[in-house]
Order: sequence, then C-alpha cells, then structure tokens
Amino acid sequence: MKRLIRPFILFLCIIGISMLHYLTPLHLPYLHDIFQRLYYLPIILAALWYGFRGGLLCSIVVSIAYAPHILFQWGGHLTVEMEKYLEILLYNIVGSVTGLLSQRERERTIELQKTAQGLEESYQKLQIQSEKMMAVEEKLRRAEKLSTLGEMAAVLAHEIRNPLGSIRGTAEILRDDYKPGEPKHEFIEIQIKETERLNRVVEDFLHMARPQPVDMHPCPVQEELEMIVTLTKNDARERKIKLVLQPPTVPVIIKADGEKLRQAFLNIAINALQATPPDGSVIISTSVYKTALCEIRFRDTGPGIDTETLAKIFEPFYTTKPDGTGLGLAITKKIIESHNGTLLVESEPGHGTTVTVRLPMQDTTNGGIS
Ligand SMILES: Nc1ncnc2c1ncn2[C@@H]1O[C@H](COP(=O)(O)OP(=O)(O)OP(=O)(O)O)[C@@H](O)[C@H]1O
Ligand SMILES: [Mg+2]
Repeated sequence: MKRLIRPFILFLCIIGISMLHYLTPLHLPYLHDIFQRLYYLPIILAALWYGFRGGLLCSIVVSIAYAPHILFQWGGHLTVEMEKYLEILLYNIVGSVTGLLSQRERERTIELQKTAQGLEESYQKLQIQSEKMMAVEEKLRRAEKLSTLGEMAAVLAHEIRNPLGSIRGTAEILRDDYKPGEPKHEFIEIQIKETERLNRVVEDFLHMARPQPVDMHPCPVQEELEMIVTLTKNDARERKIKLVLQPPTVPVIIKADGEKLRQAFLNIAINALQATPPDGSVIISTSVYKTALCEIRFRDTGPGIDTETLAKIFEPFYTTKPDGTGLGLAITKKIIESHNGTLLVESEPGHGTTVTVRLPMQDTTNGGIS
C-alpha cells in the first residue's frame, strides 16, 4: 500500500498541472508560465524518490502530457513554442541529473551504513573477546592461588599425619592400662576417636592434592544409601525435614570403594539437608540409566542454586556457608570420577536442587542387575 502512495502522488501532480495548462485560456500567459514551472515539482520528487530512472521516466511522462498542449493549443506562435520545447528538454535534463545525484547520495548512505554496521559488529566482537580474556585471566589467577593453597595443604596434611599416628598409637597403649567402664578408659577412647576423625580430615586434604587408588569391591547401592540415611536421619529430624529413601525398582550392585562412595553420598546428602528449610523434603532414589549405568538422585526442596553459583560449586574452597570448607563437592566429584562416574547438579532457583550420580554397574552382561 505504502509503495503505491508515491506513484499516486506523482500521477495526481502531473494530471493536475496538465489540467491547469489545458483549461486555462491562452490570454493568461503568466499563469501558463507558473504552471510550466510547477512540472518541476513531480520531476524532482520522482528523482529524489526513485533515482535516475524515476527522474527520467517522470520527465518523459511530463513531456508527453505537456507536448499536445504546445502543439495544439499554442500552435502558430513559433517563438513561444520554441521556448516551451526547450522547457521540455530542461525537464528531462533536470529529471536525469537530479535522479543521478540522489541515486549516488543514496548509494553512499547505504555504504556508510554498512561501514557503521561493520564497525559496530567489530566493536561488539572485540568487547566479547576482551570479556573472555578477562574471565580467563581471573580463572588463571584463581587456579594459581588454588594450586599454591593445595600444595600448602598437602605439605601440612602430610606433616600432621605422622604425629597423629604417634598420638593414636600411644593412646592405644595407655587404653590397655584401664578396664572398659573406667572413666579414664572412656577418655582415651574419645581421644582415639577424635584422632581418627582428625586423620580423616587430613586424608581428605591429601585426597584433594593427589587422588589415591580406590579399593574396589562389589557394593550394593541401596545398602550404602541406607547407611547414609541412618547417619543423617537425626540431623533431618532436628531440622524438621522429611528424609526419604525410595526402594529401588531393581537392586543394583556396583563395583566401588564403599568407604569413599559413602563419603561422596554423605557430602551430597548433607548439602541437601543444609539447603532445605523446615517442612521440606530430601528424596533419595535409585534407577537404572541406559542399562549399563545406575543413577542415584538426591532431590531437595531447598532454595536452589543460581547459574552463577552453579558454575563454581565444584571449585575447591568455594562455599556460601559461614562454616563451610567448600571441599565437600570438590571431593565428591573426584571420588565419583575415580569410579568412572559422573556428577550432575540441576537446579532451578526457588524450586530445589537435584544432584544425580551416575556410576557404571558391576555386570553389564545382564544389565548390571543382580
Ligand atoms: N543441595 C544444594 N542446594 C543449594 N546449594 C547447594 C547444594 N549443594 C551445594 N550447594 C552450594 O554449593 C556450595 C559448595 O558445596 P560444598 O559441599 O562443596 O561446600 P560446603 O557445603 O559449602 O562446605 P562443606 O561441604 O565443606 O562443609 C555450597 O556452599 C552451596 O552454596
Ligand atoms: Mg557440603
């Protein structure tokens, strides 16, 4: 519709001006002079709107519309006619030249726009590149810090482990001096237990610094999970959280280092409980995934994790908790990966988090189901 408006305006102008010529008596030449000049209006407009071809075409149409008026109405006045024929020539010259100029101008504008667009694109690319570079630089700096920290932790852990062994050994010797039930026997028991706990923490650090070989045995997944539930149900009760271990559709056995696997599951379960508000729930379920893998899911109704945080949760020492070490998930990931498994965290802020552990099942010939 819009495309037809301009030709229609031009057509109306030419018809209108021609009518003025044809209907105005010849004894009013000054009016004819004005009308003659009025033809420049559609010609220049056509040239501006449609370029060289538009300008020329319009001037030709004007010439055709105007010529009969000169021939048949002004016929006989040679000097007057001559001037009018020259005017027709001028129409065509003005139409073509203006059209040509406006066309050139338009082409230049398009070229300039293209250049500006190209520049804008290059600028945006440059900005993206520089943002990427800044992110890489930040990562490098953090990696450097972490590797130094990791080395320090490894040295420290190593140095602590030996005296810990001696403390435990001497405590065991001292324990033999007291009968079970005596208060000092109990104190020494506590001492031994706490030393063991400290030793485990130290081992965790060492585990982070250099992964240790895992001791693989057939492991019934459900039994391991039941153990996790036993260990965490008091915590869940205190927090008023419903902790549910769903029975598996089929019993699943995997080849794993039971102790390490429990440690991994415990870290995930504790995180879920810590994130879930009272009256929420944590549901643990097992299923078979793609016949060769078992899938253990920990689903909580906590606040979820936003995308920015999600990208960092596996980094050692990353924590959002005031008393967290930020090692839980980093260790868990290492353990799962050392079992040739994968760890997946899916979360929708406001709708909870699901942590999925996929591990290869022991026997794939019968689908790993025993
Ligand atoms: N289920 C979850 N819901 C919401 N946020 C979670 C969940 N699990 C982990 N996170 C986030 O990931 C971060 C890292 O977890 P990670 O277990 O590595 O360390 P932590 O729990 O903070 O400390 P630690 O486990 O050493 O006591 C947490 O601080 C928390 O922000
Ligand atoms: Mg944790």
